[in-house]
Amino acid sequence: MKYIIGNWKSNKNIVETRDWFAKFTNIYSKQKETISTANLTLVICPPFILLPLAKELRDKYGLPLSLGVQNISPFVEGAFTGEVTANMAKEFAQYAIIGHSERREKFGETDNILSEKAKRAKSASLTTVFCIPGPETPVPVEADIVAYEPVWAIGTGKTESPQKAGEVAEYIKKKNPGKSVIYGGSVKAENVNSFLSLGSIDGVLPGGSSLDPQSFFDIVLNASSL
Ligand code: PGA
Repeated sequence: MKYIIGNWKSNKNIVETRDWFAKFTNIYSKQKETISTANLTLVICPPFILLPLAKELRDKYGLPLSLGVQNISPFVEGAFTGEVTANMAKEFAQYAIIGHSERREKFGETDNILSEKAKRAKSASLTTVFCIPGPETPVPVEADIVAYEPVWAIGTGKTESPQKAGEVAEYIKKKNPGKSVIYGGSVKAENVNSFLSLGSIDGVLPGGSSLDPQSFFDIVLNASSL
């Protein structure tokens, strides 16, 4: 089983979300007889506010997509203005991205805060996709999937070499037995299989190329041929 987890980041509004699902459905329905997604777990992570709509459209179109959040509160519930808790998210999402390097860098999220977030996600039965910028970054025991994402490869069009990514994935697995390891950083249809064909890499986390339904579908299509 390989994961393809699309991270929309802070992009799209209601109109654009409707458009993405309509176009993805159109593309997918034309090819669904010829591709097999049985060995793939497909996840889309829209902004919180778009999750109810994404869930509605996914169900309406019968798409083989799970949904995830891009972040989660470290608190259970209560007087924490602006926070979205794991218990709220779980009504719409099955996955939670935690510790993306953009949140570590731009929102000051520390290893301690991220460990709390992982606990909250786990206790709400969300599958935790814990991002680390390097192999030595601590991984909480609650993390289910570890996403190795070198900061210089995010949004730059430059990827880690598959060989190096594979070695890092093996190292992360030795340090964190039992966890899946995926790669993120400028993944697109043209390079996805260079990562997925390595036994040590259990999936990918595309950002920019998940925004366009055709380019996300092309990633799925190529991955389905492996
Ligand atoms: P990118 O983003 O695919 O646009 O490089 C990946 C990520 O930040 O998760």
